[in-house]
Amino acid sequence: MRSDHLAFKQPAGLGRAIILIARSAIAAAPIAEMERLRSLAAARADGAWVAYAFTEQGAPSLREVVLGLLNEPITEILFVPLLLPMEPAFAAWLTKTLQRWRAEHPGPWPVLRIGAGLSQGSAIADLLTEQIDAARGAAPVSHPQKAPQAGSLVPAQKRRVLVCQGGPCMAAGADLIWGHLRNEQARLGLREAGEGTMSAKTSCLGPCNLAPVLQVWPEGTVYGGVDEAGVDRIIASHLQSGEPVRDLAYEATGRKQTLRPKILSAT
Ligand code: FES
Repeated sequence: MRSDHLAFKQPAGLGRAIILIARSAIAAAPIAEMERLRSLAAARADGAWVAYAFTEQGAPSLREVVLGLLNEPITEILFVPLLLPMEPAFAAWLTKTLQRWRAEHPGPWPVLRIGAGLSQGSAIADLLTEQIDAARGAAPVSHPQKAPQAGSLVPAQKRRVLVCQGGPCMAAGADLIWGHLRNEQARLGLREAGEGTMSAKTSCLGPCNLAPVLQVWPEGTVYGGVDEAGVDRIIASHLQSGEPVRDLAYEATGRKQTLRPKILSAT
C-alpha cells in the first residue's frame, strides 16, 4: 500500500518528479524541515511532483519513493542531493543503487537524472553570507547548567544485528541496508517483540568480498550480499522465528568464499 508520503498532491500526468535526498532523520523537527524544503521546491518546480527521501534511516526511504513512482505516469525523475559536502562517491553510489533497483524491477522506467549537489549552485555564496549573518545574530552559547542526572535502562533485548559500515560494504549499499533494517525494526516493533532485537552499525566484520555483510547474534550468523529483500527475509525468518536464512548465510568454513551466483545476479 502506498504511504501518504507518496500520495500525489498534484494532478497526475505532469511527467516529472523531483526527489530531494537527505541522509537520515527520525525526529519531528528535521522531518518538518524536509517538508518545508519540499514545499519550497514544489513552488519552484514548474508543476513537477516533489518529494523528499532518506538514504539511511527515516521515512520515506529513497527506495520506497522511487519504486512507488514506477506506478505513476512519470517520465523523468530528478534526484537532488541535499548534502554538504557532496561526497565524490555519492553520485556513483546512487547510480549503482538505481541500476540495481532497475535490474530487480524490469519494465519501463522513467529517465533518471542526478543533480550535481548544493555547492555547485550559483546561489551558494549568498547562502553562506546569509548564514554568517544569522550566526552573528545568534545568542551566545551559555555556561553549562547542572542538569539532573538521568538514569538509563540496561536493554533487555537478546538479539543483535550488526550491519557492517566498512568501505567495501558501504560501496555495496550497506547504508541502504541499515536504513531499511531500522525502518522495519521500528515499524514491526522488533525491540519488544519476541526475544527483542537491537541493531548497531559496526566497522569491518571481516568477509569484505561478501559485501554488504550483516551478522545476527547470539548465533553469530554471517549474511552476505544482502539487499532490502534479504533484510525482509532475515527479519521474518531469523529475527521473528529464530530460523536463519540458509541461502543468504555463509558458514565459517575455513576457506575463502565468494558471493553465490544467484545473489551476484541480484546485485
Ligand atoms: S567492509 Fe564489511 S565485511 Fe569488511
